Amino acid sequence: MRVLVVGGGGREHALAWKIRQSPSVERLICAPGNAGTADVAENMAVGVDDHDGLAALCKKERIDLVVVGPEVPLAAGLGDRLREDGVKVFGPGAAGARLEASKTFAKQLMQRYVIPTANSQTFRDFPSIRTYLESQQHFPVVLKADGLAAGKGVVLPDSLDDALNAAFDMLEEKRFGAAGNEVLVEECLRGEELSVLALTDGRTLAVMEAAQDHKRAYDDDRGPNTGGMGAYSPAPIATEEFLSNITENVLVRIVHAFARERIDYRGVVYAGMMATRGGPRVLEFNCRFGDPETQVILPRLKSDLVTLLDAVADRRLGQVEDLEWDPRPCVGVVMASRGYPESSSKGDVITGLDAVHEMEDVVVFHAGTAREGNDVVTAGGRVLCVTALGDDVAAARERAYAAVDQIAFDGMHFRTDIAHRALR
Ligand SMILES: Nc1ncnc2c1ncn2[C@@H]1O[C@H](COP(=O)(O)OP(=O)(O)O)[C@@H](O)[C@H]1O
Ligand SMILES: [Mg+2]
Repeated sequence: MRVLVVGGGGREHALAWKIRQSPSVERLICAPGNAGTADVAENMAVGVDDHDGLAALCKKERIDLVVVGPEVPLAAGLGDRLREDGVKVFGPGAAGARLEASKTFAKQLMQRYVIPTANSQTFRDFPSIRTYLESQQHFPVVLKADGLAAGKGVVLPDSLDDALNAAFDMLEEKRFGAAGNEVLVEECLRGEELSVLALTDGRTLAVMEAAQDHKRAYDDDRGPNTGGMGAYSPAPIATEEFLSNITENVLVRIVHAFARERIDYRGVVYAGMMATRGGPRVLEFNCRFGDPETQVILPRLKSDLVTLLDAVADRRLGQVEDLEWDPRPCVGVVMASRGYPESSSKGDVITGLDAVHEMEDVVVFHAGTAREGNDVVTAGGRVLCVTALGDDVAAARERAYAAVDQIAFDGMHFRTDIAHRALR
């Protein structure tokens, strides 16, 4: 089979790495990819937003299956476009991707299909949100811009003043452009967060092992929010009972919702969950694999990923055997470039990758990297996700940090407490 992975981050390196292991793959292309994907696939310089370019690439290289990594091209209809051309695609069309691309749409769907989530109200103008916020007794509240905002559209203001300022920024100043035309005000839930990802073809579900990630930049969950500074799988709070609760009350219901709403959904449903005292509740849905969750989930997956993705794209997931997992935990530590997340720097040479390549049960997934002659250099943002399997979380974490210690680049920074919640 000839497979194309669309994207160029750590998630796509993990997907390409796992896809490469499948005996059915005869050719693997990544567009645009990074220095890590170049080790397992052929990179081609077509951007994820260049739908015409990707369609042409599929035709020229006679691609059998496209796996779309990021949400932006999915929301923009890349899945629909390629399917119209007769290409098999893993990833929902624009209608399905609204699950992530519109938080008000997702909320309405959850209300209609009785999926447990935070109570919320939607506002389209500043005077009405102001009246509502002024009537609130308890802070923080949660303010969410409706559309895609690269992880920056959610704030938890501690006071009325801060809430009004944030609402003004979104609705009046158009800080997020059209993505902020509608703003949700949600009740603030308390508890531990976890991510549950499932593959679905719109009929059947294959629920994956849960993961937890670390969003804040610095140790002890301090500092600004990031795309994710590390992750681990499984999540100790995700007992079998807990996962079957989420499967039954969230995932089965969302697949039912797709069917009732005539949404042809083939891809990942990612449920961002809060384990509250009153049971698990949905914070948000994503329409694609998580980053960095994928980097710690896929090293644990024993099943052939291409068989699964192809079955989803073909709507025959029900005919594929259950997922098989390595019981060993996986821990992933993100190494970021100087200034991340506020700014980022490029072009610093990364050393130590060859030494780490020799380590058993360690895989380094590249995110922001590029090749420059014989060197691998940083390309900004999150640079690497260094993952390791171990007999228990402590062993996996120790091995991951032993690998991190071998790697160096100018300005690198990483958290030293990844998976601390799993060690309590
Ligand atoms: N209702 C809520 N109660 C408490 N915290 C929340 C709530 N909604 C979101 N959050 C926090 O904000 C983060 C980002 O919100 P999320 O809905 O996942 O949006 P996005 O990932 O698009 O930024 C969550 O990971 C969580 O930590
Ligand atoms: Mg989120």
